[in-house]
Amino acid sequence: MTQARRPKVVVCRAIFPAIIEGLRQHFEVVDNQADVMWTREQLVAHLQGCHGAFTTGGERIDAGVLAACPQLRVVANMAVGYNNFDVPAMTAAGVLATNAPGVLTETTADFGFALLMATARRVTESEHYLRAGHWTRWRYDMFIGADVHGSTLGIIGMGRIGQAIARRGHHGFGMRVVYHNRSKLDAATEAACGASYVSKAELLQSADHVMLVVPYSAESHHTIGAAELAQMKPSATLINLARGGIVDDAALAAALRAQTIAAAGLDVFEGEPKVHPDLLTVPNVVLTPHIASATTPTRMAMASLAADNLVGYLTARQAKTPLNPEVIGSAAAQERMARA
Ligand code: GLV
Repeated sequence: MTQARRPKVVVCRAIFPAIIEGLRQHFEVVDNQADVMWTREQLVAHLQGCHGAFTTGGERIDAGVLAACPQLRVVANMAVGYNNFDVPAMTAAGVLATNAPGVLTETTADFGFALLMATARRVTESEHYLRAGHWTRWRYDMFIGADVHGSTLGIIGMGRIGQAIARRGHHGFGMRVVYHNRSKLDAATEAACGASYVSKAELLQSADHVMLVVPYSAESHHTIGAAELAQMKPSATLINLARGGIVDDAALAAALRAQTIAAAGLDVFEGEPKVHPDLLTVPNVVLTPHIASATTPTRMAMASLAADNLVGYLTARQAKTPLNPEVIGSAAAQERMARA
């Protein structure tokens, strides 16, 4: 008796070896443990004949890629953000899209505070000064910064991560928390977070620390630009944990240089891993390379969830965290399933 051919999946970037091993229990796996950054053409070439793909947030999956990969049935992103996916195009093509929400919430919120504390208290700027051998004596105003406890925290984007940040600010640091979001939270959730809904303008004008955790979309592009920076207090800090493009990085660098706001902490950048050259030359910004979810248990949980989504869909037509569940069982999906 001939055995049915196992589905084939491609893992587009290097990942924990245990995840690759787990996938090999179910699939023929093409890996990229050498972590070569594939061009779009190389991605399409590697996807040929593949039924599933494991992506990490940087691989663009759009109508062109889908048309060039007729066997592809599911793409699982190891990220909560999915702005690398054209979800409507995936739905139209009958390809399931999944992301990795929930498992990174608390770790990312912790990092929001790491960045906020480092920025408000000038941790990296003062460390550079010390390492450069400039520290010769104590001074009353040396690296004087802003308080975090008891201050006003303004959160733009109040999904799971925004709420986890609000809880930390309210319960841990005694902050007054205000937020702005597409929709107002229900009263019980607001109370649990100790957060009040305000307009964007009120948030920008009243917050001592502004934290951005809104997903990236055409609508959220440059949520913070020159006009918004001009509304912030000169003593305020701005933290971007969400995605490059939500802040106009050139306008931010200009505001930091002119000190129209005090400081910024950025984990994400427009066009990353490139960083706007002006941000590299202003001292009052803390820069980290997109590591907000980077702890071993959390990255493992994100990778496991992406792998579970591939296994679930390709073996049992179900997924834990689908972005377009209407694909499951749709005519377009059946058509793809019928292809070898
Ligand atoms: C990280 O940026 C993510 O979207 O998970």
